[in-house]
Amino acid sequence: MEQATLHADTPPEPSQDIRHLFDLCADEMAAVDRLIRESLDSNVVLIRQIAEYIIGSGGKRLRPMLVLLAARACGYQGDHHVALAAIIEFIHTATLLHDDVVDESELRRGQESVHAVWGNAASVLVGDFLYSRSFQMMVAVDSMRVMEVLSNATNTIAEGEVEQLLNMHDPDVDEQRYFSVIEKKTAKLFEAACQLGAVLTGRPELEEPLATFGRELGVAFQVADDVLDYTADADTLGKNVGDDLAEGKPTLPLIFARQRLGEEQRARIDAIIRSGGRDQIGEIVGLIQDTGGLRDSMALARERSAAAQRSIALLPASAWKDAMTDLAAYSVSRNH
Ligand code: IPE
Ligand code: IPE
Ligand code: MG
Ligand code: MG
Ligand code: MG
Repeated sequence: MEQATLHADTPPEPSQDIRHLFDLCADEMAAVDRLIRESLDSNVVLIRQIAEYIIGSGGKRLRPMLVLLAARACGYQGDHHVALAAIIEFIHTATLLHDDVVDESELRRGQESVHAVWGNAASVLVGDFLYSRSFQMMVAVDSMRVMEVLSNATNTIAEGEVEQLLNMHDPDVDEQRYFSVIEKKTAKLFEAACQLGAVLTGRPELEEPLATFGRELGVAFQVADDVLDYTADADTLGKNVGDDLAEGKPTLPLIFARQRLGEEQRARIDAIIRSGGRDQIGEIVGLIQDTGGLRDSMALARERSAAAQRSIALLPASAWKDAMTDLAAYSVSRNH
């Protein structure tokens, strides 16, 4: 494979539906992107190559944007938020490199996933590189509270992924077990991203509402992701659809459907959760559709997004606060 261009200075284009939010913090997002690229530095060429491949392929950059918006919405005037935004994106990217190995997903951000090109070992190890680089960058921020929030978040994400592993191929996974996983594996990083805005500003009384905003948005975001895994089109999504069923992962649409089916069809779903595989995807989408599983999952996602929006009512009016509200709405209206 050809060596990727390093330090290219053209950040990936934001998708149209959130373009106006990028425009609001365009200079800071450009600074985040520069810092990300500078921080990929390593003498080991394969690390730079792989890191550039995944980071240069875009991604929506929602988490770093939330760090910037949350800090500004709390009244932050300094520039540490740029480093924290880059750190959060590194952690997110590390989780994706690990996730695609665990999930055996072949497509990420519209291109072959890293493990499909370079193999599982390289994907896991470069994920480790990004994780540990993010901790080196955190030390430079020199705040024990920031360290605390981010080390707790990364540890919780790992716990969530292991918890999810235990749920694989288990038809008895219910809503409570499902939400426990997604609060850890996904919502926790959104929570940290937003909470850090209050930490940086030195406004401890805002930490809880900001953390709640991130957590609710994160739950909504993952429920929408799990619906998209059944309904989206792979070209638009940039990921293959049906990956969750293929690996026997019971997510909310399937859990709802299973609760509402008669004994015979429920036994059919249980068998498919136990075996996994893609062959029955059409049949399952039909069952989820008929039982209202997709509709009700999206209704729940919208409720959690609305809860996120309510939780920051106490922040003073500002363009940044409005942008946070828009991002919460986008997390459930997105098609990729
Ligand atoms: C993917 O997150 C992982 C989930 C939590 C579902 P994103 O959808 O934010 O991924 P990118 O960064 O935009 O590719
Ligand atoms: C989110 O879950 C993964 C992480 C938090 C790393 P998924 O496994 O559903 O994410 P995608 O769909 O692969 O992006
Ligand atoms: Mg995955
Ligand atoms: Mg996964
Ligand atoms: Mg998914």
